[in-house]
Amino acid sequence: MRLSFRTAGESHGPGMVVLIEGLPSNLLLDIDFIHQELLRRRKGVGRSPRMEIEEDQIEILGGVRWKKTLGTPVAILVRNQDYKNWLEIMDPLGDPPPEYRGVTVPRPGHADLSGMVKYRFVDLRNVIERASARETVVRCVAGAIAKTLLSHFGVTVGGFVESIGPVVVEENMGWEEKITRARNSVMATFDPIKEREMVELVENARAKGDTLGGRFVVAGLGVVPGLGSYAQFEERLDAQLSFYLMSIPGIKGVEIGEGFRSTLLQGSEFHDEIFYDASSSPFPFVRRTNRSGGIEGGISNGEVVWVRCAMKPIPTLLRGLQSVDIQSGEPVQARYERSDVCAVPRALVVGEAMMSWVLADAYRKKFGGDSLEEMLSNFESYLSYLETLKKRG
Ligand SMILES: Cc1cc2nc3c(=O)[nH]c(=O)nc-3n(C[C@H](O)[C@H](O)[C@H](O)COP(=O)(O)O)c2cc1C
Repeated sequence: MRLSFRTAGESHGPGMVVLIEGLPSNLLLDIDFIHQELLRRRKGVGRSPRMEIEEDQIEILGGVRWKKTLGTPVAILVRNQDYKNWLEIMDPLGDPPPEYRGVTVPRPGHADLSGMVKYRFVDLRNVIERASARETVVRCVAGAIAKTLLSHFGVTVGGFVESIGPVVVEENMGWEEKITRARNSVMATFDPIKEREMVELVENARAKGDTLGGRFVVAGLGVVPGLGSYAQFEERLDAQLSFYLMSIPGIKGVEIGEGFRSTLLQGSEFHDEIFYDASSSPFPFVRRTNRSGGIEGGISNGEVVWVRCAMKPIPTLLRGLQSVDIQSGEPVQARYERSDVCAVPRALVVGEAMMSWVLADAYRKKFGGDSLEEMLSNFESYLSYLETLKKRG
C-alpha cells in the first residue's frame, strides 16, 4: 500500500483541490489542526498582502464520514477568496474581456518564459497561475493529514529557519527545543537575536523593492529504523525526501544531514559510530552523532531524520529585473505581481508537509493494512521484533 496525492487549481481561480489516495480507514481527521497548519503557512514576516485576503478553509468533498477516513480517495477543496477579484480574468468558462491585454513580460527566475514556450501561450497569465506557490496550500492539507497519521506511530515532524540571506542562527540546542522555539517565532527560527536581524533584513529588502532567500531544516522525530530501502533506487528514503522537498517552488538545494559538509571531513570525522544501549527502546543500537541525517543505505537508522533545504530569493521584485516584451521584443522591466519579499518561514511549513508525506508513505509501505487498526497491529509486531534485538546485545 502506498500513499499518493495530486493537486489541481490556479492561484486566482475558484480554488485549489487535493486528491489523496492510500490512507487507511478509521483515521480521525483533526480539522482544527489542518486549519492551524494552513494558518502557519500564511504567516511570517515578509509575506505578501494576498495572505490577508485568503482564509484557507477546507471543504471535504469525499472519502471522509463523521470525521473519519473511509479507506477511499479523499478529495479536499480550498476556495481562493481572491477569485472574486479575478472573476472575469480567471473564469473557467467565460471569454476574455474586450479590454484584456494579457501578460507579455516574463519575470526572470519564474516559470513565465519557459512555460510560455512549452505550452504555446501568448498570455503568460496561463503560466503564472499554476506555477504559483498558491498550490502549496493543498500540499499543506495533505501534510497535515500525514502528520495526523504519523502521530499514531509516535512520529512528530517539525523544523526551523536556519538562515535568511547572510544571517545564520548559531545557538546549539536539542531538536525539540529548536522546533518549539521556532513555532513561537515570527521568522520560524530559534535564536531571538538572529530573529531580530532577520526581520530587519527582510524589512530593508522590502524598502528597496528587493527579495531574499534562505535555508530551513526539517526533522522527523521518533522515526523507527527500517523505513525505505536500498532494494530499488526509487525506494531510498533519502531519494524520496529529496524529490518531494525539491518539488517545492523556489527550493534549489536539498541536503540529507550534513551532506555537503561531509566532503570537507574524513571518514573518521563524518560517520556516526554505533553504540549499544539496552535502555534505548525499542531499538538498542544508537549513535552519539547524527551527521548522516538518520538515513544510511536509503533506510532510516532509528535516529532523527533531518534534511536541510535552500530557497532562492523570491523572483518577483518590486523594483523589476531586466526582461523583454515577448510580443514586441523590446527591453522592459519585469512586471510586479503582489508578492512575498521572503517566503522561507512559509516554505518551512510546506517542507514539513512534504517530509511528513514521505514518512507517512514509508509507514504505509512498511506496515500496510487497510484500516488504521491493522496498520497499528503490524507496527506493534515490528516494535516487538526490535525489542528482541536486545537479547543479542
Ligand atoms: C510558500 C512559498 C511562497 C512563495 N511566494 C512567492 C511570491 O510571493 N512571489 C514569487 O515570485 N515567488 C514566490 N515563491 C517562489 C516561486 O513560486 C518560485 O520561485 C517559482 O515558481 C519558480 O520556480 P523555481 O524557483 O522552483 O524555479 C514562493 C514559494 C513558496 C514555497
